[in-house]
Amino acid sequence: MVFLNGKFMPVEEARVPVLDRGFIFGDGVYELVPVYSRVPFRMDEHLARLERSLAAVRIRNPYSRAEWRDILLNVIGKQPFEDQGVYFQVTRGVAKRDHAFPQDAAPTVFVMSNPLVSPPKELVERGASAVTAVDDRWLNCDIKSISLIGNCLLRQASAEAGAAETILFRDGRLTEASASNVFVVKGGVILTPAKSKLILPGITYDVVVELAQTAGMALEFRALTEAEVRAADEIWVTSSSKEVLAIVTLDGKPVGDGKPGAAFRRMHGLYQDFKQKVMRAGKEKRAA
Ligand SMILES: Cc1ncc(COP(=O)(O)O)c(C=O)c1O
Repeated sequence: MVFLNGKFMPVEEARVPVLDRGFIFGDGVYELVPVYSRVPFRMDEHLARLERSLAAVRIRNPYSRAEWRDILLNVIGKQPFEDQGVYFQVTRGVAKRDHAFPQDAAPTVFVMSNPLVSPPKELVERGASAVTAVDDRWLNCDIKSISLIGNCLLRQASAEAGAAETILFRDGRLTEASASNVFVVKGGVILTPAKSKLILPGITYDVVVELAQTAGMALEFRALTEAEVRAADEIWVTSSSKEVLAIVTLDGKPVGDGKPGAAFRRMHGLYQDFKQKVMRAGKEKRAA
């Protein structure tokens, strides 16, 4: 079952008018929340980012935080599977085609949930490959916009190369990847670009930063040149679906010794432990 503008229905029955500005202009924003054993992971942080994206593009938020929580929990409850990826988007609504905002359109709200496919154990242990590209997207990459043609073109480059991600450089500096944030490790220090308008403020990025800081792992936020990334001991990508994943070849060349590194293995363990803790707490709350 999906949720569309206040109603639950089978996905085959969900219809949006062709004049929806999401369809015509890609005029909308979205989120994806991972759900483990029916417990949403960092739901409030995703909702806070949705609120920021909506405000940034001046789309009226049709629901309060509590109403959003209710809708998402309802959608989660209606699925037959335990681990889910809840996707939700809000567009500016249906209006006669005109670039300028309509006066009276009601936002379109769509929520669906699909089975969550976390990286298989063997990919985590072996590591993934990535290619690089120039980050030629717009300058508001902090907004989680549904206008993803730039990201799709960049991701397609790695898909065609048989790689898992495309790591991006703007003016010779690392930004992020086509659908994830990027961390590197050099000399035992975890390095990542600070948040800015050039990257999406990842919820997983925040979790990884918190886990590193709590564990006392050295971590610095700073600009990273393309040469530094290529010479890194380790490269990781992070996202709600990839969690934290080691990149072991970049443009066909090995990263470090070509295997997931010690810092990655530690962080991956911390991340899995943290997930389990959140899941247990969520189940206990539900049972109480
Ligand atoms: C461009 C981009 N950067 C980073 C991320 C990671 O964000 P999160 O950790 O919140 O999933 C995503 C996730 O879809 C993304 O599309």
